[in-house]
Amino acid sequence: MERTMLGRCRFWTLIALTLQVCLAEVKVTVTPKVEVIKGETAKLPCTYTTTASASTVVTQWFIEVAGVRKQIAYKSDHSFGVDANTPLTDRLVLGDDLSITISPVMVDDERSFYCQVIAGSTGVSEAETVVKVFYAPEKPVISGNDQSIALFEGVTSSSEVGRCTSRNAHPQPRLIWFKDGTPMPEVKDVKEKTYMIAGVVKEASGLYTVTSTLFMRPEKADAKSVFHCTVEYSMPNKQIKQESSDTFNLTLLYSAENVFFKIMNHGPIKEGDDVHMICETDGNPQPNFIFSEEENQLTGSAGSLMLKSVTREDAGTYKCEAEDFDAGPDVILEKTLNVNVHYLDPVVVAPEGPLNVSQGNAVELQCKTKSSDSYTLQWKKGSKVLSQNGVLTLQSVTLSDAGLYLCVGAVPTVPGLEKQANVTITVQGKPEIEAPVNGMVAKEGNLVTLNCSALGYPAPQFTWKPSGKESVTVMGNKFISTITLKATSAVLNDGVTCEASNVHGKDSKTFTVSIKEQATAADANAANRGNPVFKTAETQQAGSSVVVIAVVVCVLLLLILVAVIFFLNKKGKLSCGKKDKKDVPSGDMKGDIVVEMKSGDKGNEEAGLLNKPHADQ
Ligand SMILES: *[C@@H]1O[C@H](CO)[C@@H](O)[C@H](O)[C@H]1NC(C)=O
Ligand SMILES: *[C@@H]1O[C@H](CO)[C@@H](O)[C@H](O)[C@H]1NC(C)=O
Repeated sequence: MERTMLGRCRFWTLIALTLQVCLAEVKVTVTPKVEVIKGETAKLPCTYTTTASASTVVTQWFIEVAGVRKQIAYKSDHSFGVDANTPLTDRLVLGDDLSITISPVMVDDERSFYCQVIAGSTGVSEAETVVKVFYAPEKPVISGNDQSIALFEGVTSSSEVGRCTSRNAHPQPRLIWFKDGTPMPEVKDVKEKTYMIAGVVKEASGLYTVTSTLFMRPEKADAKSVFHCTVEYSMPNKQIKQESSDTFNLTLLYSAENVFFKIMNHGPIKEGDDVHMICETDGNPQPNFIFSEEENQLTGSAGSLMLKSVTREDAGTYKCEAEDFDAGPDVILEKTLNVNVHYLDPVVVAPEGPLNVSQGNAVELQCKTKSSDSYTLQWKKGSKVLSQNGVLTLQSVTLSDAGLYLCVGAVPTVPGLEKQANVTITVQGKPEIEAPVNGMVAKEGNLVTLNCSALGYPAPQFTWKPSGKESVTVMGNKFISTITLKATSAVLNDGVTCEASNVHGKDSKTFTVSIKEQATAADANAANRGNPVFKTAETQQAGSSVVVIAVVVCVLLLLILVAVIFFLNKKGKLSCGKKDKKDVPSGDMKGDIVVEMKSGDKGNEEAGLLNKPHADQ
């Protein structure tokens, strides 16, 4: 019984307590979770509702230090403040709204904060806010990646490839290694070929510095790979962010198995070219190389051999030997290369120029050369090709055959391999003046320039009639005399004569000079002053307008005359022997004249008026 009583008593006490809690007349509300970045400001609000009188309410903020609650701020009816000697003392502000503001936030502020409200005897209530502190780490830095790793057969231990460090994060971040942009699975077992050793340091600031050291047993192919690491970290609102280190390569050392020897020149090599040869191995680093040709040692540098301006004597077999002492004894580290130097000898012409030939004679020119390859020989004068076989035959030489002849030798299979020779032929003969180009001037008295162009050799002497300011130029086999003189009426009438003479004879031609006929509108004024054709056209046009005006004036005069006659007739001042008609009252519509007038009004007035005299008769 006793027991039961006790149990009942406890039961009721529990019920009462529960009711007290459930019906508590104080209720506190806070933000359950506040996320903030280290160094920034966190505001933790706290509000309550109660039925108790405000004067009895006390609000307290607590933290827990080593499992013991510690008050950091409080407010009652008559006092409020921030507690001294707490980790937050200098960084805390208690607001009138009971919120606390922490600034600047430190990593240690990541903890629970409790807001407790005591409403006198009415009750107590509290609520918890959890503060989370975040901080983005520094960009990861790679170190320890600068040693080279030697690759030997049968190596069983892994080498340190590089260490990745990312400083100052909160919360603790994660490091991920990448090879050629692909994440490498995280392996901690040091018995594996590839593994990572992680490290973490908590700094005095509370921030984490993380490291990851990558170990590998690299293969040759890894020399071509790029590595980097990435830090993955959390930020407020469940954000996951990443930042990557710079990339790096592995420096792997391994002996050569093959030598490669090649010519860098494009296309066939010809005399005068620079020849560039490169020797390299598939090992790393590249060993020393020895270059030779027919037992003669040559000086190259770092696997590169340069032959400057080669001749046919430089053609031959070149050898490159790699001095790799680590390579196995069976490995032959040498290669040879055949260098072929194409050439074309200077072109020789027979007979040698310059040649002096008389008009009508025959000329035969031969040109020759030698080459490493098949070649072409062309005779050319200017851009005109005269022969393709090296022989040039001119059966009967004319004055215009005089000039410079080129023999061009070329090797079509070797671009740029070309040589040439030339011969000047002069043809003796009496001057021949080309068909003249006549002169034009705008008006009499202007200056006119004429060109008299003559073939013939020796160089002709020019005589102009009338004379003027004269000069002679030579263009190929032509001699050109240029004269400038005034276009006097004598010049306009008789022209200008050019005479060219040398020891073999002479030739002369007359140039006419005329007034330029201008046909453009801009020159209309000049035309009015001097051009007879233009004047005629103008006069004709003017004449036709005069005719039109005259006709119009005549018709008008006739009309006025007819009108005057009509009115005079109507008033009786003009006697026509028909007085009775004159007396007809104006109202009488039978009168011929009136009728005629009416019809005139309706139709052709002129016709009506002209008809009137007929009607009168
Ligand atoms: C790393 O290797 C790649 C591929 O062989 C090459 O293109 C790149 O220049 C190298 N980078 C460095 C820093 O050596
Ligand atoms: C002709 O040949 C001479 C001698 O080889 C050379 O000096 C000259 O430049 C050549 N002339 C032309 C136009 O090719």
